[in-house]
Amino acid sequence: MATKNELLLVPESLADVMTQADKASYMMGAVRGALLAPENKKAAPHFNTTELAAMCDADRSQIVYRSSKGDLPAGTINPGGNRRTFTLEEAIPWVREFRAEKLRPAGAQAVCISVANFKGGVGKTTTSMTLAQGLALKGHKVLVMDCDPQGSLTTLFGILPDTEVDESQTILPVCLGQESSIAPAIQSTYWPGLDLVCAAPLLFAAEFGLPARQMRETGFEFWNVLNHALDDVRDLYDVIIVDTPPALSYVTINALMASDGILMPLPPNALDAASAAQFWRLFSDLAGQLVEQRGVTKNFDFVRVLLTRVDSQDSTTATIRDWISKTYEGKVLPAEIPKTTVASSSSAEFGTVYDVAKYEGSQKTYKRARDAYERVSELMEEIIRATWRRQLSNQG
Ligand SMILES: Nc1ncnc2c1ncn2[C@@H]1O[C@H](COP(=O)(O)OP(=O)(O)O)[C@@H](O)[C@H]1O
Ligand SMILES: [Mg+2]
Repeated sequence: MATKNELLLVPESLADVMTQADKASYMMGAVRGALLAPENKKAAPHFNTTELAAMCDADRSQIVYRSSKGDLPAGTINPGGNRRTFTLEEAIPWVREFRAEKLRPAGAQAVCISVANFKGGVGKTTTSMTLAQGLALKGHKVLVMDCDPQGSLTTLFGILPDTEVDESQTILPVCLGQESSIAPAIQSTYWPGLDLVCAAPLLFAAEFGLPARQMRETGFEFWNVLNHALDDVRDLYDVIIVDTPPALSYVTINALMASDGILMPLPPNALDAASAAQFWRLFSDLAGQLVEQRGVTKNFDFVRVLLTRVDSQDSTTATIRDWISKTYEGKVLPAEIPKTTVASSSSAEFGTVYDVAKYEGSQKTYKRARDAYERVSELMEEIIRATWRRQLSNQG
């Protein structure tokens, strides 16, 4: 008999675990309902004329002048008749018109970027989403692929992986050989210009399916499945961003091998830096095997490290930042994402700094975070444009 203050363990059967899973899913639905109320769906931002001008790298007067031509969306005028608002859908043709020379040139293909790091919690998913949104605001058509079975990126789109994602909306059919193209898995999202391939826990099946096919099918290349599946859509998008799981899984290898470039988010602290070192070691061991045993060749157009969750209050940050910039010489982006409450506020669980219409906290904090993400998009756009130029010169 347990006495009064002794801990009493209640046995949990597998059935209990299943009930628990149902409860947790139900609770996620309720949480999402509360955060995304009233419609329970996410909405893309709206812009006034000044904001539209900034997106177009233009002056307000240029927008007003260009409006008179009447060939671009007019937006909606307020009842007072003195202010115009543009939905994102209306803003995109403007941005594409004004930023035409920065967009994908004819003959170039989507630049595919894997956001990768072995470690969880380093900012992979946040970086994937903010980069996708930032590039979409610059007029690029972006495909976002969630390849992490946890489906955090899918959640950022307001879709619940456990209850709202079915196999056909993920990369699973491609991994299992039921589909050869990723095209049927793509869906449009609340954000015009951003299309999505979802992830959900069911994607874990790929970790058994891919090695099983390697054993069974002659000539099968387990590392090239996603690469081939993407070929179908590389002409339809400007950029493809792949969020990867925190492991060198079969799916991660596929993401890396399908990509033109790698972006590694890395918080400047000792543990994260150590795990980044392991990533490169393991990836290079694996690449070495593929090269030696199977004659695989693969060149990346770029590899970049992005310092994330940078805590300038922490006394070790400066030392580790220095150490990282020496280790990844020439690869560290000249921008960093501060550790910020904007990224970890309640609504941020279902969105990013680009989704927050009105930040409740300090405007200075918000602006600092937004500017940092914006700078990363600018830098990545330059790298993407350089990749397009390389593609074209290789063709010519
Ligand atoms: N710059 C930041 N400052 C503070 N918290 C952040 C920042 N970026 C991301 N986070 C939070 O850290 C957690 C992990 O980020 P996430 O992007 O999901 O990492 P990963 O995909 O590598 O696991 C999330 O709760 C996210 O809201
Ligand atoms: Mg993640």
